[in-house]
Parts: sequence; structure tokens; C-alpha cells
Amino acid sequence: MNNSHISWRAGVCIIQYVFVPPPPQSSENTLFGMGNPLLDISAVVDKDFLDKFGLKLNDQILAEDKHKALFEEIVKRNKVEYHAGGSTQNSVKIAQWMIQKPQKVATFFGCIGADQFGEILKEKAAEAHVDAHYYEQNVEPTGTCAACITGDNRFMGSVSAGPFVANLAAANCYKKEQHLDLDSNWELVKKAKVYYIAGFFLTVSPESIMKVAKHASDNNKIFCMNLSAPFISQFFKEPLMEVMPYVDILFGNETEAATFAKELGFETDDIAEIANKTQNLPKENTKRQRVVVFTQGKEDTVATVGDEVTMFPVLDIDQNDIVDTNGAGDAFVGGFLSALVQEQALEECIRAGHYAANVIIRRVGCTFPERPDFH
Ligand SMILES: Nc1ncnc2c1ncn2[C@@H]1O[C@H](COP(=O)(O)OP(=O)(O)OP(=O)(O)O)[C@@H](O)[C@H]1O
Ligand SMILES: *[C@@H]1O[C@H](CO)[C@@H](O)[C@H](O)[C@H]1NC(C)=O
Ligand SMILES: *[C@@H]1O[C@H](CO)[C@@H](O)[C@H](O)[C@H]1NC(C)=O
Ligand SMILES: *[C@@H]1O[C@H](CO)[C@@H](O)[C@H](O)[C@H]1NC(C)=O
Repeated sequence: MNNSHISWRAGVCIIQYVFVPPPPQSSENTLFGMGNPLLDISAVVDKDFLDKFGLKLNDQILAEDKHKALFEEIVKRNKVEYHAGGSTQNSVKIAQWMIQKPQKVATFFGCIGADQFGEILKEKAAEAHVDAHYYEQNVEPTGTCAACITGDNRFMGSVSAGPFVANLAAANCYKKEQHLDLDSNWELVKKAKVYYIAGFFLTVSPESIMKVAKHASDNNKIFCMNLSAPFISQFFKEPLMEVMPYVDILFGNETEAATFAKELGFETDDIAEIANKTQNLPKENTKRQRVVVFTQGKEDTVATVGDEVTMFPVLDIDQNDIVDTNGAGDAFVGGFLSALVQEQALEECIRAGHYAANVIIRRVGCTFPERPDFH
């Protein structure tokens, strides 16, 4: 690619041709994600609404029977917004946004219902240029996540857009035999070079995760996973440790790392030591050393680089400019993956992750402007 640089010196126009090597081109379906697709529904609500459903400002909970009416009511509010959500889908959406062109670099699999919300989800994924192939079934409705934005929150400049109430519904019904195993779908898996599945999906279809992880390992491709939440290490330790030997890149935040270390009996709460010990867990594909990446909010991100544990400062931000940190972790992973599929070095992947997270925390919800400004 030639970029001509024009300048004027002493009234003479000087044109310099600068050779800029093109970035490695990513092609369609190079990034594969699989997880729980949720339709995010956000609307401004008042305190009475929260009280009615017994919600506190910082709640992030799974819907119970008593929340059924909440979903019916929130869609009747003014200015309801719908977004394609769910942790993994958010991350691949952000990766696609960072990459911009070509479209459909990111593939996404998950389960939805044959209903109106499913249709909206498909539209939203298409708008984000993600190549979503959902398993559609008609037993459970499409999964949803209600974000109850309270006026108070904004007024007080608080950093939360919650409470959040998630209803996995159809997302829980993904079936390997009904979807992943189908030839046309498996072809898409084979096309990818980088795989990302958040730990949350261990509660849904561990056999699907294993199949993808083994494919990546057998073909020396990159399989990435996320610790996702403390309860995964606590209550889904067995499937988590079954997939761990296939994990090339493991993400997590500090809390998740600490719980993981505790569950594995690492006997340390030093994050660098946890990263080191996690890196050294047994690994199937020995051609790639495992990379461990732990974020810590505004503190440095900790990552294993070769045999070293290195700290990477996050992007500076005036803490008053932070609107809502929800989705920061998903955004970090998305930015990271965007650089990874473009075969960038680890340092560059982390820099891209920090950039994407920095954009998202300046906005309500996991939303982004038209284009990234990342160089
Ligand atoms: N207060 C902050 N100041 C600067 N950067 C931040 C802050 N909070 C988050 N970030 C950015 O977001 C990245 C991920 O944040 P964090 O470790 O808080 O993820 P998380 O705990 O998974 O967040 P969430 O669960 O809300 O998505 C950080 O590495 C950083 O780049
Ligand atoms: C890390 O993520 C968990 C959810 O998995 C969240 O509860 C916790 O607050 C996060 N930790 C920090 C320090 O942000
Ligand atoms: C990581 O652990 C290995 C083996 O226990 C040790 O030899 C090495 O010094 C550690 N490295 C760092 C950077 O902590
Ligand atoms: C995944 O990893 C990121 C980055 O390490 C972390 O911040 C986040 O909490 C993890 N969980 C999810 C659900 O993205």
C-alpha cells in the first residue's frame, strides 16, 4: 500500500511516497466463537420498578420465576434498546468492529428460540457483520438479558448501568449433535484459525467445547478460553480441567484468577505466581506454550510472555470519564482477538485489548462508535 505524503518546503511541493506494509489480511470466518447468545434489552427504569422485582443497583443475577413479568414490562418502556449480547458474542462482535474489513471474519454459534427475539438477535448480529449461525429450536424462547438503567445512576455519575437480569432460556439448549456436528457448520469450524469460548459455555455443552478444542489442538490452531466467573472454577471444575490441556490462551480477571488458584490448591494469592502456575499446567499441543492473561480493572494486565510474567499498564483514563465498566472484560478479549487473528505479537494483542476496553467504558452498555481509532 502506498501512502503519499505531501508537504510544502520553501514553496516547493514535495511528494514523498512512504511504503507501508499492509497488515496481514484476515479472511472470512477466521475467528470462531461459541457461547450463550442473549438479546440485551435495556431501558431506563425508576426505583419503584427495581423495588417491585427486589433488585439492587449492582445485581447481576439469573432470572427466577418472579422476574418473568420484568421482561414483559421492560419492553414496554420508552426508548427500549436491543443489542446482540452474551459474553462470547460480545467479544467476537468487538473483534469484528476492530477489524472492520472484511466483514464476517467472526463466526458465532449458539442456541436461540424460533421467536421474535430470535429474529431481532439475527438482525443485530448481521448489523455487527458477525456471521452468526444459530441453532434454532422451539422448546425454549431466545435468551435475554435485561439491563435496568436507573435515572439516579446517571445523575450521580455512577459507573453502573445495571442491575442486570439474565434469562438463558434457549441459550442453555445448544446441542452438539443438532448443530456443531452438521457438515455445513463443521466446515465453518474448520475454516477458523482462532477459537474463543467463554467458560460460561461449560455449563451448556462441554462436549461441543471439547470437540472444537481438540480440533484446534490437532491442527496447531489457537484455542482461547475465559475463566468467566468464580462459579465456573468452583462448580464446573471438572469440565474446566478437562479442556484446560487444550487451552492456548486463558483469560480472566483478578477475582476469577484468585478463585481458580484456590480451587487448584496453588496456595498463593500473588497474581503473577498464579499466572505462572496456570501456564505450567499440563498441555496437549506442546508446539505452543500456553499464554495466560489476567486483567485487573485499572491496574496493570498480567500476562505470561514466554517464561516471564509481564505487567502491561492499561490506557490512561480520567476516572470521571468512565460511564459504565460493564462489558470491559468482554471488550478487552474482543480487542485482543482482533489482533490475534491478524497474527500480531502478544504485546500488540494486549494493546488492542486495552484500547477496546477503554472505548467501551466511556459508554453505557457494550456499545461502540462507528469505527475504531486504533493504530
Ligand atoms: N477503572 C478503570 N480504569 C481504566 N481502565 C479500566 C478500568 N476498568 C476497566 N478498565 C479496562 O478494562 C479492562 C478489563 O477490566 P476488568 O479487569 O475490570 O474486567 P472485568 O472485571 O471482567 O469487567 P466486567 O466484568 O465489568 O466486564 C482493563 O484491563 C482495562 O483496560
Ligand atoms: C471480575 O469478574 C467478576 C465476574 O466474573 C466480578 O464479579 C468481579 O467484580 C470482577 N472483579 C473485578 C476486580 O473487577
Ligand atoms: C515460573 O515457574 C517456574 C517453575 O515453577 C519457575 O522456574 C520460574 O522462575 C517462574 N517464573 C516466573 C517469572 O515467576
Ligand atoms: C474474561 O477475560 C477478561 C479479560 O481477562 C476478564 O476481564 C473477564 O472478566 C472474563 N470474563 C468474561 C465473561 O469476559
